[in-house]
Amino acid sequence: MYRTHTCGELTIQDTGKTVTLAGWVQTIRKFGAITFVDLRDRYGITQLVFDEDLNHQLEKTPIGREFVLQINGIVRERSNKNPAIPTGDIELRVESFNILNASATPPFTIQDDTDGGDDLRMKYRYLDLRRNIVKRNIELRYAVSRSARNYLHEQGFMDIETPFLIKSTPEGARDFVVPSRMNAGQFYALPQSPQTFKQLLMVSGYDRYYQIVKCFRDEDLRADRQPEFTQIDCEMSFVEQEDILHMFEGLIKRIFKDVKGIDYTESVPGMSWEDAMWHYGNDKPDIRFDMKVANLKVPAHVFPDKVGEIADTSIAKSDFKVFNEAETIVAIAAPGCSEYSRKQTDELTEWVKRPQIGMKGLAFIKYNTDGSLKSSVDKFFTSEQLAGIAKAVQANPGDLILILAGDEERTRKAISELRLEMGKRLGMRKADEYKLLWVLDFPLFEYSPEENRWVARHHPFTAPKPADIDTMIYHSPVISDPEKYLQHPYARIKANAYDMVLNGNEIGGGSIRIYQRNLQEKMFAALGMSREESMHKFGFLLGAFEYGAPPHGGLAFGFDRLCAILGGSESIRDFIAFPKNNAGRDVMLDAPSTIDTKQLDELSLSIKPSV
Ligand code: AMO
Ligand code: AMP
Repeated sequence: MYRTHTCGELTIQDTGKTVTLAGWVQTIRKFGAITFVDLRDRYGITQLVFDEDLNHQLEKTPIGREFVLQINGIVRERSNKNPAIPTGDIELRVESFNILNASATPPFTIQDDTDGGDDLRMKYRYLDLRRNIVKRNIELRYAVSRSARNYLHEQGFMDIETPFLIKSTPEGARDFVVPSRMNAGQFYALPQSPQTFKQLLMVSGYDRYYQIVKCFRDEDLRADRQPEFTQIDCEMSFVEQEDILHMFEGLIKRIFKDVKGIDYTESVPGMSWEDAMWHYGNDKPDIRFDMKVANLKVPAHVFPDKVGEIADTSIAKSDFKVFNEAETIVAIAAPGCSEYSRKQTDELTEWVKRPQIGMKGLAFIKYNTDGSLKSSVDKFFTSEQLAGIAKAVQANPGDLILILAGDEERTRKAISELRLEMGKRLGMRKADEYKLLWVLDFPLFEYSPEENRWVARHHPFTAPKPADIDTMIYHSPVISDPEKYLQHPYARIKANAYDMVLNGNEIGGGSIRIYQRNLQEKMFAALGMSREESMHKFGFLLGAFEYGAPPHGGLAFGFDRLCAILGGSESIRDFIAFPKNNAGRDVMLDAPSTIDTKQLDELSLSIKPSV
């Protein structure tokens, strides 16, 4: 037997017992004739004491960091207790030891605050995974998965695997492709999600499906995106939107309870996509704090339903060219910031001018605590106009009003980023506070100016809201005037889709699906696909819809993202055992890599000489 106990379980109650432990050397400290070693395994750390006799042996066969030891010894009470760890009351007096394996000196210290940089830790990920903080993340991931599986099983969901070698399913990203040896010149695609398979399972009658499954997308990477990531993928039959929202609110609340011990009892509010864009500037608002966007000037056609809500502050009527020429003017009020110094406002101005934000400048109004208003654009505006803006932003004395002007898309994105940044600086985005939100009523289509056609905002299997089906059936998708695409009836069609947002992150999304062949065909046509093309790509699905497809819908959670947020991190990499870096590389394996000519030949492939 290699061990009788783990390194995390011995306590004062075990005093006097003879035990055997096995683990890794964390630290070695010598005090004269005595050596102290911290021995570590997955469960914790136990202090070992090598007294004089054994010290001689240690001198003959020296040990170092990360050596694997087997220790036989007697548990005794420690004189110098360490209340920070569960085994801190005891130590193990070593009777005999066995070096199970030696270790080279690790390239970085195996500690929470390690000296290893990102790249080095990725290269030696198996060592990085030994660190406590990384291990905690992996444990949290398992806890989330267990909780989800338990809930879904109790709700009658069945875990069914779907293939990885498939034909391309468009979800907006590029596919990873795999050449087929047996079918020369042909390729499989790796699934961007199991979307069409889970729909086929509904056609087959498995009315509650789930899978915790890898998805593959060849897209530009960010902190919250990996080329292969995991979804908790779900689908249900005979459901409406409300049923799905209810079921998966239940799932997320169960995860909160099981993993974080949080009783999230309040119901999750819904917000239309249009309201999210209007009040927060993006479709995944962080509602832990208010600081809503005031819309001072917005082109009428962008949010036709909101025209009546544009603040009438007459700010567009002045000699200030920047505002006069701007398509959109939006503002927020940062509470308690009216006393910002020149240096601070200059720094904020530089912040919005960074290429990632891309604004030309920032105007501000200080709403002083004495009620007076002082602005960076004083010379262009009367104090009544400034007061009008302050009112529109619902500012209070003591606030700093920040105003951005420019073209609609960029300016709205910029105010949303500025709002998040100010929320962060003002401590309003608290790490231990969780706020869930459903974003609903997305537009079904998005316009692609490059191709002058409609693209599906979610994916082509998403159903329109029932009230909009006729618009889709009876209007041509052709966009005759690209300048006026927003006035095309298709721009107003709403999707029967929903995203779940947690603290400003999209953690899941889904929709009620199209389940009739004719509407699905109409959808493919709306996306500019010819009949032949849609049959070539999706003949199997259209065919299946002819054999009694039930009404169905579902969603998928971004499992890695959910874990990262619950673990208090921005980066999903920390929650994946073997992640890729930002260039999509596995630096440990050194993949992707070239393959030899024999393999290329077998696959009937040749590499372009320029590469
Ligand atoms: P969607 O594309 O919205 O929907 O994906 C669902 C969720 O997966 C997460 N996610 C990612 N996480 C990490 N890295 C990525 N590259 C990445 N891309 C997406 C997000 C997202 O909310 N088949 C549909 C679901 C459905 O309609 O049922 C789908 O894949 O958190
Ligand atoms: P300028 O005329 O460029 O010197 O700018 C005058 C003031 O307007 C300065 O306070 C600028 O920071 C501000 N400003 C310039 N461009 C913008 C913009 N796009 N949005 C908001 N304020 C701006």
